[in-house]
Amino acid sequence: DIARLPGSYYSALVAIRERLPKELRTPKVAIVCGSGLQGLAEVLKDRVLVSYSDIDGFGESTVRGHQSALAFGFLGKNRTPVVCQLGRLHAYEGHKLEDVVYPIRILRLLGASIAILTNAAGGLNSSLLKVGSIVALVDHISLPSLTSMNPLIGSNKDQFGPRFPPMSDAYDYPLRLSLFRAAHELGLLEEAKVEETGGVVEGVYAWVAGPTYETRAEQRFLKAAGADVVGMSTVPEVIAARVLTLSLCTNMVVATPYRLAAPVAKAENDPAFGANEGLQRVRTAVGEVLQKEEVANHQEVLDVSARRADDMRTLVERTIERVFGE
Ligand code: 6GU
Repeated sequence: DIARLPGSYYSALVAIRERLPKELRTPKVAIVCGSGLQGLAEVLKDRVLVSYSDIDGFGESTVRGHQSALAFGFLGKNRTPVVCQLGRLHAYEGHKLEDVVYPIRILRLLGASIAILTNAAGGLNSSLLKVGSIVALVDHISLPSLTSMNPLIGSNKDQFGPRFPPMSDAYDYPLRLSLFRAAHELGLLEEAKVEETGGVVEGVYAWVAGPTYETRAEQRFLKAAGADVVGMSTVPEVIAARVLTLSLCTNMVVATPYRLAAPVAKAENDPAFGANEGLQRVRTAVGEVLQKEEVANHQEVLDVSARRADDMRTLVERTIERVFGE
């Protein structure tokens, strides 16, 4: 059956398997590590790295904080064999969506029955979350696929699923329940801990193609559409595999008011005030943001990931122990 797979799938599977000891050839869990969240791979026991350059059809990840390799090893006290995809491929790097989902399909073909995806995301819903919150996704809004970009466009590969797959159940409920049981056991849901860290919550992810961060009008649009977090990855992989997905909120997306030019020009020319006095009044009236405006940036994403990496790692580890334990 595997021999009839399209293109480079077969040779990729052979290349990976021949680099692994027998006990690691069939990982039970595939984990995709988002920006700054590769720490999980560092705690794997008997770890074996397989570089993308040794695998047919794998593109290179060019994003800072991403390494182009698969890490195989045992995780947790029951030594579950897992594989971590360290370097994720994104549409904004110029990769075709078919190539973006190729690694997760390969990991599924290796035998992983569970996929856990992680990413860094911007927080839209400030009544649900803050910087540091971990969001287990319950649903997504995929503007790119609503308007033409979808990894499944093209002739259907029946090995991977039906022509018209439903997406209303894309985020696995039993896995999410295991995650929250693990979170509870780790004390991450206790009030004081939630206050300190932002907690673990459930929410909706909006996928945008990037690499530009959102304009303020787009921020309001996504929020009004019901998204809690926004990011540039993950949804193509979700479309290709049923999953548990964790978004780490690395920054809040809060649309600040615009600096308006029209009232300023009007006040400057208003004979009722002296020029300066008029300007002062207008500045107050339109709430001009005099301090430096906050803009999203990748360094902030990496800093927050580093700070929350331990909780992300233990959460995933404990979830896997629950699923495969006893
Ligand atoms: Cl604010 N936007 C997007 N698209 N991706 C992000 C982000 C924001 N913060 C982290 N990743």
